[in-house]
Amino acid sequence: MPPGFWTATVPRMKGLTKMEAGKDIYILAIESSCDETAASVVKNGREVLSNVISTQIALHTLYGGVVPEIASRKHIEKINQVIDAALREAGQELRRMDAIAVTYGPGLVGALLVGVSAAKAISFATGIPLIGVHHIEGHISANYIEHPELEPPYICLVVSGGHSHLAVVKDYGAYEIIGQTRDDAAGEAFDKVARAIGLGYPGGPKIDRVSREGNPDAIFFPRAKLADNAYDFSFSGLKSAVLNYLNGCRMKGEEICQADVAASFQKAVVEVLVDHSMHAVKEYGYDCFAIAGGVASNSCLRAAMSEACSRNHIRFYHPSPVYCTDNAAMIGTAGYYEYIKGVRSGLDLNAVPNLKLGTRGF
Ligand code: KG4
Ligand code: ZN
Repeated sequence: MPPGFWTATVPRMKGLTKMEAGKDIYILAIESSCDETAASVVKNGREVLSNVISTQIALHTLYGGVVPEIASRKHIEKINQVIDAALREAGQELRRMDAIAVTYGPGLVGALLVGVSAAKAISFATGIPLIGVHHIEGHISANYIEHPELEPPYICLVVSGGHSHLAVVKDYGAYEIIGQTRDDAAGEAFDKVARAIGLGYPGGPKIDRVSREGNPDAIFFPRAKLADNAYDFSFSGLKSAVLNYLNGCRMKGEEICQADVAASFQKAVVEVLVDHSMHAVKEYGYDCFAIAGGVASNSCLRAAMSEACSRNHIRFYHPSPVYCTDNAAMIGTAGYYEYIKGVRSGLDLNAVPNLKLGTRGF
């Protein structure tokens, strides 16, 4: 067990102590790993009583991407207001909370530290137990919020600005990573290509929107296949192909159709994600599949996954867009399943910017 964690030695009566059995569990959750300051109150793991998100997108748009130092400062300004708003909107008092769940990695270190410090301060002052949550585990758990019937095991594709993972969700908090990106994450590729074609930050939603006006078959961009692991991803070659295409057009004095480039690039990413995912689901023999992370809100990806899943008789789950991008409700849900297992963090919990999948439960 890494420093900062301890597991309470409670009897595991279906995950709950006798005292707790039958009583509602309220989690106050905090998320500040990148450019959203977020807090939420989640009841019994799947009922979101409040989901407050203060986004910094407008601020970072000025610089074409997230500026870590600015992100940290903004989190400090907002964190207390966001936590207060989450409790108020939930109609709950702090002392009613059974635990404080907080993202402690991966993410920007300065940004993570704001949420972790706030959560530790509240825990220290009130005695409410603290639970450090892995950000990616939060993204996966977002699927539980609106789908009460969804239970492990299933396969989940996590595609965000920093991560592209194919994971077997064996149980709550128990994952096997079967594929991941070798270079750029899917969201990172969206953001870089958006910048190159002049759409600016944040790239994903803009490419999604502009692509609706474009022809996805206008330009063929390569789909990377990795010989040693069919489930791994690589998006840097695709990004370079788009940049080469743009340079080629400029050198020849040809006009660039932004919508066609966006749609053709998006089609290439979506095809790879769908192809790898369906291959994994069939190979591992699951009939249930979910997507998570910011890129999971992409309309083309959702439509293509939905179509592929119904063709293969696989149940398909995806969170609403607000639960795909960073939010604290997903951290509350993941924190709940840690809580009922008896996992607690110590007050020496620290931000771990490069927290690896495989650490505690992964
Ligand atoms: O999960 P998230 O909010 O933050 C991380 O944990 O990284 O994901 C942010 C990423 C960004 O790269 C953003 O461009 C991408 O998700 N994204 C999208 C869409 N909405 C957000 N990518 C494609 N299509 C979208 N509609
Ligand atoms: Zn995220």
